[in-house]
Amino acid sequence: MMILEGLPFAIEPMQLEDVPTVSAVEQVVFSMPWSSGAFEYELRHNLSSTYRVLRYLPWHQESDAERRLSRSMRRLLRPGREDRSLLGYGGLWMMVDEGHICTLALREEWRGRGLGELLLVSLIEAALQNAAAVVTLEVRVSNLRAQSLYVKYGFRVVGERKRYYSDNHEDALIMTTDPISTEEFGARFDALTAALLARLQAERDEPAPLQPSLVP
Ligand SMILES: CC(C)(COP(=O)(O)OP(=O)(O)OC[C@H]1O[C@@H](n2cnc3c(N)ncnc32)[C@H](O)[C@@H]1OP(=O)(O)O)[C@@H](O)C(=O)NCCC(=O)NCCS
Repeated sequence: MMILEGLPFAIEPMQLEDVPTVSAVEQVVFSMPWSSGAFEYELRHNLSSTYRVLRYLPWHQESDAERRLSRSMRRLLRPGREDRSLLGYGGLWMMVDEGHICTLALREEWRGRGLGELLLVSLIEAALQNAAAVVTLEVRVSNLRAQSLYVKYGFRVVGERKRYYSDNHEDALIMTTDPISTEEFGARFDALTAALLARLQAERDEPAPLQPSLVP
């Protein structure tokens, strides 16, 4: 788990029990969503993949044991209900020595606070832990928000896949980092991560956005 000292957030490995909520977010965020079966298959069988979820834990002072207990309690109290503490998720496939970001999504009402960036940081860290040489991904040409996030972390457009997305035949850009184990990449990544954590600390007392499912 990524240590986010003093912040009401945690990055954790995605678990099978997260799939219903991940899948519910996926259906809202993407026009070509993965099925819940696809996420389950990935978690059970794709041993070279890493999936992370971002949680909002305003009760972050609790110990790990208390946190696990309160998670199970919430599930018991609200069986089958979406877990609103799960704000977003991301996935990384290892393809030989390349880390490939296969998904990244954040609930819409939580965007613009650096939390999508936090998930991206956790995926790049996973790539570093897996000794990936570079990190790569595909992104829609129209998705300027995601592209500027990737550019911030050193991704560059290295090619395109014409009519890659079958829903509207949109092209995909292929974006790749420079080698991530270099001192240069490491120094830039550390500086960006430090700035992000400082930003999240500065914003830590901002109210949580209105959660649609809690609105009567
Ligand atoms: C992509 C996504 C995860 C980014 O998360 P976010 O919370 O919106 O973005 P953050 O607040 O973390 O922003 C981090 C950086 O992204 C870029 N960014 C964020 N919002 C932006 C906007 N409206 N316009 C341009 N750039 C933007 C900036 O580089 C920003 O850094 P800055 O704050 O220093 O300017 C989120 O928008 C999302 O889930 N989008 C829908 C799904 C998606 O497109 N996934 C990617 C598929 S490849």
